[in-house]
Parts: sequence; C-alpha cells; structure tokens
Amino acid sequence: MSDSDNVSGSAGADSNDVTVALVGGGTVGSQVARLLLESADDLAARVGRPLRLTGVAVRDTAKPRPGIPADLLTDDAAALAASGADVVVELIGGVSPADEYVRAAIAAGSSVVSANKALMAEQGGDLHEAAEEAGVDLFYEAAVAGAIPLLRPLGDSLAGDRISRVMGIVNGTTNYILTRMDEEGADYADVLADAQALGYAEADPTADVAGLDAAAKAAILASLAFHTRVTLDDVSCEGIENVTAADVAAARDMGFVIKLLAIADVTPDGAGVCVRVHPTMLPRTHPLAAVRGAFNAVFVEADAAGQVMFYGQGAGGEPTASAVLGDLVTAARHRVSGSLGAAASTYNDVAILPATQARTSYYVNFSVTDKPGVLAEIAQVFADNGVSISGVRQEGLTDQASLTIRTHEAVDEALRATVAAVGELDSVREVAGVMRVVGD
Ligand code: NAP
Ligand code: HSE
Repeated sequence: MSDSDNVSGSAGADSNDVTVALVGGGTVGSQVARLLLESADDLAARVGRPLRLTGVAVRDTAKPRPGIPADLLTDDAAALAASGADVVVELIGGVSPADEYVRAAIAAGSSVVSANKALMAEQGGDLHEAAEEAGVDLFYEAAVAGAIPLLRPLGDSLAGDRISRVMGIVNGTTNYILTRMDEEGADYADVLADAQALGYAEADPTADVAGLDAAAKAAILASLAFHTRVTLDDVSCEGIENVTAADVAAARDMGFVIKLLAIADVTPDGAGVCVRVHPTMLPRTHPLAAVRGAFNAVFVEADAAGQVMFYGQGAGGEPTASAVLGDLVTAARHRVSGSLGAAASTYNDVAILPATQARTSYYVNFSVTDKPGVLAEIAQVFADNGVSISGVRQEGLTDQASLTIRTHEAVDEALRATVAAVGELDSVREVAGVMRVVGD
C-alpha cells in the first residue's frame, strides 16, 4: 500500500482503517494533512492500522491547497464533524462554531483532537464531561505552546507529584517584541510595526499584546497542574502595551529582563491558586530569561521533581502540526486497542483566588521632590500597609529625583494600596512605574 492509499478517502479504503476527519485546512490544518500524507506508512505502523483521511472542511473549497487531495475538500464542516469518523481534528479556531462541531463529533462517537486554546479555556470542562460520557478521547496538546510537549507531561508524567507553580512564556509575538526592546533599546510601537510587517504579529495584535492569548493558555495549564477547573474568566490579565523602552532599560540596568509571563501558583498559605498574566521582571540568570524571540518555554516547580523546564516553538503551521499528530496517533492507538486516555482530573476543589491575592516582590518607581523627610514619609506608607522594603535607589536631584523602591514579597492588593497612597503625597509628583519581580 502506498502512502497516499493510507490517507486517501477512496482507493484502498478498508473498514479496519482508522478514519480521520479534518475540520480546518489553514496554517495548521494544511500541515497536518501534508504530514498525514507524507508519513502515512510510518503512522500506520505506529498506530497498528492505516489512518484514512475522510475529508477536510474549509470555508472556501476553491482556494488552492497544495498537498490536500481536491476530492477530500468540503465546505460542510458540520456534516464532516458529525460523520462518525474515528477521530475528528478541529483546527478552525475560535469558540463558535468550533464548539458546536466538537460537541457534534463527540455525540457521534468520535474522539477529538484540537489545537483550540480559546475553546478549551472557555468550554474545556463541559467538553471533557461530554467526552467522558461518550467514552471518547479529547486531546489538545497543540493548544498551549505549539510544538512543545507540555500538557501530557503535566497531566500524566507529573501526575504523581504536587505542583506548586507553573510559569511560562506562552506567547511568541510578545516575547519577540520584548526581546527586541531588550536587545535593541527599541520602542514598543516600532517593534510591533516590524513584527506585523514580518508576519509575527497579526494585523489586529490585541489578543497577543493584551495578554488574552496567554491568559487562555494559563487557564489550561492551571487546570492541569492543579487538578481543577480554571476558565479564562479566572485569569487576571495585563498585556505589554504600556511597557516602555525606559522600563526595559531600567530593568536591564538592574540585571533583569522584562517578560510577559503566565503564572499559576498556590498561595503560600495554601488557601488557593492565583492565575495571572502580566509583564514581569526576571533576573537575567533565570532560565526563562534566556528564551528569546518567538520561542516559548514553561517552567514548572514541583515538590518531588523540583524545577523542570519545557522549551521550543510555540507556533507555526508545521511545529503545531507535530503536536496535533502526536495527539492523533494516541487517539488512533486507543481506537485500535479499544482503550481510552485518562479522564480529566478535576477532583481538587481548590479556590481560584483573584490575582490581588498573589504574592510577589516589586520594583516601584516614583518621581519625587528631593527634600528632607520625603523618603521617611514614603517608607511610612509602605510600613502602614505591611509592605516591607528591601532596597531603595535614588537618581537625580531636586524636582527631577527618581526614587526606585524594591519590596520583599507582598500581597498584590497591599502593594496597590501602598502605591495609591504614596501617589497622594505632596512630595510625590508621579508613580512612574510598578513592575512585579519573579524568580530571584
Ligand atoms: P487558520 O489558518 O485561520 O485556518 C483555519 C481553517 O479553518 C481554514 O482552513 C478555514 O477555511 C477553516 N475554517 C474557519 N472557519 C470555518 C468554518 N466555519 N467552517 C469551515 N471551515 C472553517 O488558523 P490556524 O492558524 O491554522 O489555527 C487553527 C487552530 O490552531 C486555532 O485554534 C489556533 O489557535 C491553533 N493554533 C495555531 C497556531 C499557529 O501557529 N497558527 C499555533 C498553535 C495553535 P479557509 O481556509 O477556507 O479560510
Ligand atoms: N499568537 C500566538 C503567539 C500563537 O504569538 O504565540 C498561537 O497561540
């Protein structure tokens, strides 16, 4: 049997084949189709039976799609999703109509593979329940950090450990922008324009630069790491739009780099889990500080394993298709053996706390009038709010003085209250910057 026989929908079809319906044939879907065709013999050997592609649903069937046999194209995604293929691969993105197609596939008895972070961050709990009731698999390794094997290691390999923190660079666009700001001293707006011209950033970059893409991924990571349900609404989110060249230069000067991090961790008192996305100062010696350009990396801290890091390409058609195919092979193997992957582990009824309860240390920069008593007055406000100062640095004199205060770990809401109160003092002209610090 030739490679194409193993994936074509007609010639060579066998009722023992594992049938695969591809809903979406764009950047990722077209690469999944290509790799399915090119590697058909290897995949058949790994699964134990040939994989047979039964259709590829797209919006526009007339668009040229090199590598996808024309007779497999359809614009009826709903029918293909509900066709009862052994595995339906959803690669159209967004919540609707992907949600309806995935539910239809599950209802028809198909296992589902998806790369859709938006759908999983919003509807993952319900979809897992539906898949469990129907006795089918639901896998979505590619939804977080593209090619990086991450969700299966978190959900399976670390299932015997207790994870205390997951934090990572899970958005390539913002890491590309921040890397260039750090390395070239460039302005945010200039690098964003370049990133759009080079195709790293979308024409509408809001989901990336506002942190929303990372927040959806943070919800998925937190659900797996803490065996509970976390949705997008539980994640507090601050993007990189307000990070200035001056912030980046000041961080560099102090031995730090600014990264957009997705962080999910257990509060020190064990009361709950905080999940958030925000620009963060990382010491240059931290492993995540070395992640440059559009690459992604996720750093996990677990009681027994200690520190573990996952690194690689977080996006792109071919890298993402690798993760999709990994899920597809696993789901297909289960079909052949009549088994299923583990159900979602959500036994842990832990509180998901607002990010105001998160603890980190901070750098706060104030523009102040340099005269006797100002520092004492500011320090008193910190003390009144229970925020401990670990260092102070002043540059400039008289009205131009810039006062940078470094704190010990503090609860976010206490720090916010402190900054607001300091901002009201007559001697303080401006709160010039507040940046969280992690990893030192
Ligand atoms: P894309 O290039 O926009 O492709 C989407 C595909 O779905 C296209 O073939 C489109 O048809 C088809 N489609 C969209 N709506 C449809 C509908 N209502 N009915 C039928 N077909 C429909 O998207 P992508 O970049 O491949 O992303 C796919 C998924 O992978 C998303 O969930 C995304 O978040 C995820 N992902 C992508 C990357 C990446 O680097 N691109 C990385 C990680 C995860 P037409 O071709 O006719 O327009
Ligand atoms: N837009 C995302 C990024 C890729 O920049 O990392 C897919 O999630």
